[in-house]
Formats: sequence, C-alpha cells, structure tokens
Amino acid sequence: MTIGNQTVAFEHSLREKWREIPATRHRRMFSSDLLTVGDDVLLEFWERCREETCVPGVRGWYQELYKEKLNGKAVADIGPGLGIDGIWFAQHGARVTFVEIVEDNLELLRRLCRLKGIDADFYYIDDLFEYRFESRFDCFLCVGSLINAPFDFTQCQVKALAPFLHVGGSTLMLGYPKERFDASGAADGASFAAMTDGPRTPWIEWYDDEKIRTLFGSAFQLQWSRKFGSDGIEFNWFDLSKLDDGHPDLELSHRTSIDRSRPRGSTALPLDVVPDR
Ligand SMILES: C[S@@+](CC[C@H](N)C(=O)[O-])C[C@H]1O[C@@H](n2cnc3c(N)ncnc32)[C@H](O)[C@@H]1O
Repeated sequence: MTIGNQTVAFEHSLREKWREIPATRHRRMFSSDLLTVGDDVLLEFWERCREETCVPGVRGWYQELYKEKLNGKAVADIGPGLGIDGIWFAQHGARVTFVEIVEDNLELLRRLCRLKGIDADFYYIDDLFEYRFESRFDCFLCVGSLINAPFDFTQCQVKALAPFLHVGGSTLMLGYPKERFDASGAADGASFAAMTDGPRTPWIEWYDDEKIRTLFGSAFQLQWSRKFGSDGIEFNWFDLSKLDDGHPDLELSHRTSIDRSRPRGSTALPLDVVPDR
C-alpha cells in the first residue's frame, strides 16, 4: 500500500485530536484521563454526560426513534467516543460493536461496558481504508465521526466500510449542516473545525443532502434528513439505506481510489494520494 505523506500526517492528527472526546454538552475530556479515575467517579461522570446530551433536542429524539428498530440488530457504532449512543442501543437489545480510531477510547468503552454489564464487541481501526470485521452489520451508526476528515478521505473510508453493511441495512449519520459552516464564516474545513470542536481538530466537513449522496454513492439511498440543535442548524441527521453491493470496482474490492467529482462548494483538501492495494 502506498500512502502519501499528506494522508499519513492527516491521519496522525486525526487520531491525536480524538484522544479527547465529547463529554458533557459543552465539555471534552481525554479518555486517558478518564481511565485514571475510580469506577464510581467514572460512572457518575458518564451519567452526567448522558443526562446532559440525551435530552430530546440533542440525542433523545433519535435514540427513541431507533430504539425498537435496532433491537436485535447488529450495530457498528463507528466513532463512539464515550459510547452514550452505543450503550443506549445495547441496553435496548442491539448487538453493538464499538469501532474506534483511538485505543484509549476503546479501552475506556471496554471498562464502561464491563461496569454496566454490557456484552459488546470492540474493533480498533488500525487502517481507515481496510476492515476485517467477521460479519456484516445491520446498521452503521456514525454520530459525529465521518465528518472529521476531508470529503475525499472519507469517501475512501466509506468505500472500505460499505461491504460490511447488509443490503437493506442503514447508515445513520450525524453531521454539521452547510448553513452552520456558512454562518461561521470559516474559510475551509480546518478553520471550521477550530470553531466547532476546539483546538487541534484537523478538519470538519459540512454535509447537505447532495453531498451525502455523493459521499455514499449509488449503492445507497438517502431516505430522509433533518437539521436540529441550536438555531435549528447545529447538527444534521441522515438516514441512508444500502440498496445493493454497488459496482464491483467501487465496493468489495480491496482497492480504494479518490473520486474527485464532488459537489460544488465542497471543502475537500487536495489529497495527493490514492490508498493503493
Ligand atoms: C465528535 S466525537 C463523537 C463521539 C460520539 N459518537 C458522540 O456522539 O459523542 C468523534 C468520534 O469519532 C471518532 N472518529 C474521528 N474520526 C473518525 C473516522 N474517520 N472514522 C471513525 N471514527 C472516527 C473519534 O475517535 C471520536 O470517538
């Protein structure tokens, strides 16, 4: 596999940044710090984070909406952070695999699941463009995770992930709307990232319906989307279904390539590489 320096450097900054995960509504914490506190303190803190973010206007509405639908389903919580959503769905009957790019985050989730008596699986993403899951999932839950890299990079990641979703399965994705990007006055995803997710955040890509369709390609259908949160434009939600396994050149192969046809206004970084297998 050849990966250019720009992608390697980006991936390093991505993993470095996300050692610090969203916690309460307005606070982030390093998972390595949370690993040092006692069980009672950790559980109490986690509960505070849950209470503050599982209100109807933030996580509450989608947790309720999908609670029954995901009961009994195999769910990959991709980029779970503190696992507030994945733990909720596991507690309501989903078989959850926590999928992370930061080992300490996964270690924290292992501990939280043990303390809460939750039987889950854990997968460390050592290569963002190649996955070795043992079986397919019914749902990819991507809450604030697939927005953290430039469009072309994420499109490669999606192509690598897609074969591991059943045909008919769902991808649920939380992002930041174009309206929020425009209102911020940010010049690009790097400056937008500093405004939304704090220092050291390498990139945040905005999404709208057109861009999300391009990201996932013709093998997926956008069922619906909505904006919510502060001023109605803090977050957006996309519910996509996988229609088929897609074009064999794009999916199921071990080769990913960067598609440069992106919607006008996209803030993709000009990546200099193609992950090549
Ligand atoms: C903004 S946090 C969201 C965490 C959690 N889903 C939540 O709602 O609180 C982003 C999470 O996604 C992970 N992440 C960042 N980029 C990712 C990527 N390209 N693929 C998978 N996970 C990613 C981070 O390690 C972190 O856990």
